[in-house]
Amino acid sequence: MAAKAYAPLQVCLHWLMAVLIVATFAGGVYVAGLSLSPAKFRYLAWHKWAGFAVLLLVIMRLAARLRYGAPALPGHMSPLAQGAAHAGHLALYGLMLAVPLTGWLMSSAKGIPLVLFTVVPVPDLVAANPELAERLAFWHTLLAYTLAAFIGLHVLAALKHHYLDRDGLLFRMRLRQP
Ligand code: HEM
Repeated sequence: MAAKAYAPLQVCLHWLMAVLIVATFAGGVYVAGLSLSPAKFRYLAWHKWAGFAVLLLVIMRLAARLRYGAPALPGHMSPLAQGAAHAGHLALYGLMLAVPLTGWLMSSAKGIPLVLFTVVPVPDLVAANPELAERLAFWHTLLAYTLAAFIGLHVLAALKHHYLDRDGLLFRMRLRQP
């Protein structure tokens, strides 16, 4: 029989990543608006650590998705709505990988090494290259805003299921089932 809810590990990863991604996005927008200063470098380091954590967590999440699968979508949804939901989830996974990866690539191309919590050095993905760094900054920003837009749609869809369809879909992302 198909599971009625996500596995506890998937629920924990979902909410942890939701908080971390919103904070990393807000931190990125804030830090991009600061002029060069020691504070900018400090906040940028925090942004990179949080973003790198998102990358590690999304890899864990993909592994959990392969291991536990996902409960079937509610039967009242049309095939078109089900297809849109699957495509949206796929896009979210792709963007959750692409945004931190372009950030890491950009940081390497800028020639600023990533050192987690100022202790654990992370290898550069490419050699320093200012032109490439500029192009990656464009892609990192574009993909981050696209991720924010998809997260907004995802939240709206969840609220529609909860308040208009009243199909209990949101409860599938709870540790304790009603
Ligand atoms: C989910 C993960 C991430 C999100 C949502 C995110 C989001 C953002 C956003 C919204 C900006 C501001 C763009 C702008 O308005 O110009 C930004 C800037 C930036 N991000 Fe990220 N980011 C993530 C991960 C990373 C990672 C892993 C790194 C590096 C290891 C990184 C490095 C940077 C850098 C270097 C900037 C430019 C800041 C500046 O020089 O002003 N990001 N990010």
